[in-house]
Amino acid sequence: EEPPPATAVPQAGNPGLTLLARVGVVDPESLDDYRTHGGYRALRRAFDLGPAAVIREVTDSGLVGRGGAAFPTGRKWQATASQPDHPHYLVCNADESEPGTFKDRVIMEGDPYSLVEAMTIAGYATGAHHGYLYLRGEYPRALARMEHALTQARARGLLGPDVLGQGYAFDIEIRRGAGAYICGEETALFNSIEGYRGEPRSKPPFPVEKGLFGKPTVENNVETLVNVLPILTGGAQAYAAVGTEASTGPKLYCVSGSVERPGVYEFPFGVTLGDVLREAGVRDGLRAVLLGGAAGGFVRADELDIPLTFEGTRAAGATVGSGVVMAFDSTVPLPRLLLRIAEFFRDESCGQCVPCRVGTVRQEEALRRLGEGRGAAAAVDDIALLREVGRAMRDASICGLGQTAWNAVESAIDRLGAYE
Ligand code: NAI
Ligand code: SF4
Repeated sequence: EEPPPATAVPQAGNPGLTLLARVGVVDPESLDDYRTHGGYRALRRAFDLGPAAVIREVTDSGLVGRGGAAFPTGRKWQATASQPDHPHYLVCNADESEPGTFKDRVIMEGDPYSLVEAMTIAGYATGAHHGYLYLRGEYPRALARMEHALTQARARGLLGPDVLGQGYAFDIEIRRGAGAYICGEETALFNSIEGYRGEPRSKPPFPVEKGLFGKPTVENNVETLVNVLPILTGGAQAYAAVGTEASTGPKLYCVSGSVERPGVYEFPFGVTLGDVLREAGVRDGLRAVLLGGAAGGFVRADELDIPLTFEGTRAAGATVGSGVVMAFDSTVPLPRLLLRIAEFFRDESCGQCVPCRVGTVRQEEALRRLGEGRGAAAAVDDIALLREVGRAMRDASICGLGQTAWNAVESAIDRLGAYE
């Protein structure tokens, strides 16, 4: 069934939008409208600069990945571009599956050409002629918009054998996910494209060296890529002047739960969690906020002055992650919520490695017992067991799923006193 359209929320307190400037303003099916609103200026500048200077701009901008892991984008591009092995591939990770994350969907539905343009720039800079857009299967409207945009861009010479008459060949192929959370992990995603089971590979080697089909691959999230447009049109310096020294530029937040106006919000790095919640109209009785998704963690209602920067959230023992801000009031039964998170990880574990395959089951069992309230002594034992299992998953799992499956539960126990 078609989900309702995702929306970017008009922000009275923040008129200077960059990433969302065209969402809800342009006709997402009109290439001409996109161009009228500044579209394809960044690609022209990229061709004027040449690949090496484009990578320098991205590096100087301080842009880091917006999928959740915050790896420096310029370093990734440089590492791929410098590989002697060919072909190079570009993969855009649009498998957005972190619970509470829906920012990439808003971009693809509301401003699809921006992603086509940004992918073309990334391909040009890193020496790739073939790009894959790995699109979450549950996003039919985003699929239709992206397919339409690709067809139009091809028809107008913005994709194909000679992009903009510059002698650069580039095209984009869409691959749809089939509902597995793990296929958002970059190497599981490569396996999925190649036709194998969606199981993560051990890293290193990193994809920049050996990625899709064993070739050098740059893999970026949708939001990461569209940040390249303002970097090229406005320059790296202007971009880096936004936010803080360690967290530059704008960031999208997916606000949901106990707020009046859920949706996607854009803020420069450095605003506080409270600023974001106030803009979304936080309801009375706030108890906790889940930051960064199920792989992230909870903070308390008295911690809303946490600055939303990578360094600020890290210092507070939290994370920006993929930009999830999920508010819970005191009517939400915390044990039920934690059990739901544990069920999610148990369901989505690919089962390849023991710590995660077994650990996610043990975690769910312990949380189920805790939820049944079997007395204080049993609760102490179960919490001790959860800590032991959580440590094993974090230390010994192959990929991020197992490594983070205990994060939210741990923070709920330690910060919220979930079972006290
Ligand atoms: P990671 O830290 O292993 O890697 C991040 C990126 O940097 C990867 O592309 C990796 O290849 C690259 N990288 C790391 N070290 C490198 C090196 N030395 N040389 C070259 N490249 C290097 O993190 P991972 O596992 O890719 O992502 C985990 C994050 O994903 C978590 O923070 C989680 O919040 C987020 N996530 C986001 C989801 C979403 O829907 N947006 C879904 C699930 C998780
Ligand atoms: Fe699969 Fe979990 Fe191991 Fe990742 S950590 S490879 S999801 S079993």
